[in-house]
Amino acid sequence: MSDAATVLERCAALGEISEQGFLLRRFGTEAMRRANELVGGWMREAGLEVRIDPLGNLIGRLGDGDRTLMLGSHLDTVRDAGRYDGPLGVLVALAAVERLGEPLPFAIEVVGFADEEGVRFGTAYLGSAAVAGRFQVEWLGLHDDDGVALAQLLEQDPAAAARDPADLLGYVEVHIEQGPVLERLGEPVGVVTAIAGQSHATVRFAGEAGHAGTVPMDARRDALAAAAEWVLAVEAAGRPGLVATVGRLEVDPGARNVIPGAATLTLDLRHPDDDERGAAVAALRGQAERIASARGMELEWEDAGWEAVAMDERLTALLGEGLPRLPSGAGHDAAMMASITPAAMLFVRCRGGISHNPAESVEEADVAVAIDVLERFLHAV
Ligand code: GLV
Ligand code: MN
Ligand code: MN
Repeated sequence: MSDAATVLERCAALGEISEQGFLLRRFGTEAMRRANELVGGWMREAGLEVRIDPLGNLIGRLGDGDRTLMLGSHLDTVRDAGRYDGPLGVLVALAAVERLGEPLPFAIEVVGFADEEGVRFGTAYLGSAAVAGRFQVEWLGLHDDDGVALAQLLEQDPAAAARDPADLLGYVEVHIEQGPVLERLGEPVGVVTAIAGQSHATVRFAGEAGHAGTVPMDARRDALAAAAEWVLAVEAAGRPGLVATVGRLEVDPGARNVIPGAATLTLDLRHPDDDERGAAVAALRGQAERIASARGMELEWEDAGWEAVAMDERLTALLGEGLPRLPSGAGHDAAMMASITPAAMLFVRCRGGISHNPAESVEEADVAVAIDVLERFLHAV
């Protein structure tokens, strides 16, 4: 079997490891533990020394040397995910490392980050943020939908997952493109110029619950109606370069015959320019305040997010001169790793640009190109 076919077969096997009937692997779950066990087994077969770091990231190390080149991506998934977003990068890295004949003058680590998608605790890049020394203590108090605190899932101090930049040579991540550019260009792979910044907000409209059959329409403070007005404002804020999404909405108390008393929404807004992103979020917050005040409601707003990050020119050039160059609207662990070491990314064409969807698909021939590019890079760096 070709190396690329092995990668696809491994992605398929990983795709069977889920918390649900559909593909879902969140941070700190039994499904993540089994995924780490499976990938860790493949790493061991390839001669890597395997460990799990204090945050739960899976790390396989080969060779020694004063400095370490890290390769990888994440093993967690979104809800009802495809099988390639994340795992492809871990398994292409492993395939390239499996091809190494003689030892290199540096160590290589293949890493499967424990949480990039942030599905369980709403924090993107949890795994790589810890490795980059950017884990924030207040995250320990975050709770999942079942009331489990992040702190309860950690046996060790997540700060101990941080790596010393002086030990690192760089970080390279292979990932499906998750957009249509390479397909339109007819190119199997491309290099990433920069990763767009992302703003996250949790927004709560608090009105007043009441009887759906008795409270007159002009005496209501319906929080869902306010939220709906704002969702349309979010959609209208989109323009070239700026994407804005409400991906989650919770209605309290949430019953057919009760006027919604509160509605909580998530905002995800991205733009390659951090100033433009900040201005767009401020404008949407202003609109939410106006909608709330016109309807006699309280508004709560909590901000989070990450800055835009440029990839390293030298490592990018070493991946291959002449490859198509494209920015990433999706977030990647490389955005965190870039704060401690030069980082570069290789995108692999995916069918229809579809991702965060079980229909995600890649061609074996394109995966073969990605393995070749990474193998050449390992000898060039
Ligand atoms: C991760 O896929 C993200 O871009 O949110
Ligand atoms: Mn993703
Ligand atoms: Mn991803």
